Amino acid sequence: MANLSNINLSNKKWNETGAGLLAVGVYQDKSFTVMAQVIDDSSGGTLSNAIEIGDVKGKNGESHLFYVNDLRVLLLGLGKKEKFNSNTARLVAGKASRVAIEKKIIDLAIECFCDNDDDCQAFGEGVVLGSYQFLDYKTKTKDLFELGSATVLGCENESVLKGASIANAVCLARDLSNHPGNFSTPTKLASTARDIAEEGGMKLTVFERKEFTEMGMGGLAGVAQGTDEPPKFIIMEYMNGGGEKPKVIVGKGLTFDSGGISIKPAGKMDEMKYDMCGSSVVLGVFKALASLKPKLNVVGIIPSTENLNGGKAYKPGDILKAYNGKTIEVLNTDAEGRLILADGLSYASKHYDPEYILDFATLTGAVLVALGHVATGVMGTDDVLMEKVKRSSESTGEKVWEFPLWPEFCKQVQSKIADVKNTGAPMQAGSIAGGAFLKEFVDDSIPWVHFDIAGTAWGAKPDSVNPKGSATGWGVRLVLDMMNA
Ligand code: BES
Ligand code: MN
Ligand code: ZN
Repeated sequence: MANLSNINLSNKKWNETGAGLLAVGVYQDKSFTVMAQVIDDSSGGTLSNAIEIGDVKGKNGESHLFYVNDLRVLLLGLGKKEKFNSNTARLVAGKASRVAIEKKIIDLAIECFCDNDDDCQAFGEGVVLGSYQFLDYKTKTKDLFELGSATVLGCENESVLKGASIANAVCLARDLSNHPGNFSTPTKLASTARDIAEEGGMKLTVFERKEFTEMGMGGLAGVAQGTDEPPKFIIMEYMNGGGEKPKVIVGKGLTFDSGGISIKPAGKMDEMKYDMCGSSVVLGVFKALASLKPKLNVVGIIPSTENLNGGKAYKPGDILKAYNGKTIEVLNTDAEGRLILADGLSYASKHYDPEYILDFATLTGAVLVALGHVATGVMGTDDVLMEKVKRSSESTGEKVWEFPLWPEFCKQVQSKIADVKNTGAPMQAGSIAGGAFLKEFVDDSIPWVHFDIAGTAWGAKPDSVNPKGSATGWGVRLVLDMMNA
């Protein structure tokens, strides 16, 4: 894991930290943050001179390096003062970590220029997210530089530290996802769940192939037929909320998706190591619960397997029976995510009395066609819950867009010979067909939202908090915000 695990708050003055890089800010109206002003005053106007010359404009995303009394000072553009929000705070803080790494400076000091809890939290998130690199498979020393520490100055708001914990959990989600299929196996997901459960005093249950097959989880059992890698059905319970109904999150843990007999083309098939990003959301959220210890009841469920083409592999035309008793005609073995989620959602509906269920899955290529790498497609059965999702989307900057689950679409997944089929109408509304299928496995009385993260879990345009060629950890922050963790 290559990211800052901790940051600390300090009330030291700008020239007392001993850090290799000190980051402060300037707005687009050319006004300085508190510490930038002090530095400017005590250095004969070094910073304001650069503004006068015209090099420093204070735009969001800008950064300029100065040398003041043997210190490196990084002046960060904060954009328009009236537009400054938690999103800006996160990106700007991330920029400071990024510059430190680029310049191979091991310790960063950064002034917090926020004045409320939300912005301070986002700022803490940014410092840690910006420090994230995936280096586990690099062996040359020159590639292995990591940021060692970050000291936050001029701020006593503990929300900064909460943000750092949340970002740490996002980085765990990224790491699990970035590791290839021969490392992030179902067994690895289960052992990670065990580590988190131990850290957070949670209950962990893992059903093996034989057990979940006998229990009637025909979806997961069917998909797992083609692989020798042991599949798992993982359940985590964080019960710290007294008598309240649990919130349940379900994540697709497909650790490699070849498509099965309906095999995928070779180009980009490697990216299907990311097909477990839904399970990363669940594990990331539980990692954060372990460190934040909020008063909540949360259950996490991860059906996990590879989708391969072994001699016992399930075939197009096969009919499977899910955990809730419904029969499924398999018309495409590459629509496997919904089959394993069918069991996860049925299990959640039967064994808990959830306040709501959220599921996260890299479910369809079609969502990428609709929304690109910009937003997650969401569908659900409850307007109040959907509003909550949208509010948290706004406040975390993790964008969602709602698709309708109209009856016309729900009809498209009905089968002629079984209860449902795992594909919708050919070439039409593919993401909605995925949602309409999943709806069949959620008890009607339980509010539920499905998140299709196939576009957002990786491949997003890189920025200061999202490195190039990495999983994003999309969803961890949104879920924690929804739960008021
Ligand atoms: N994991 C894929 C979805 C996917 C594809 C995510 C490309 C990201 C990029 C999923 O299991 C899948 O293959 N879905 C099929 C469904 C279809 C056969 C109904 C798809 O989207 O093509
Ligand atoms: Mn597939
Ligand atoms: Zn898949």
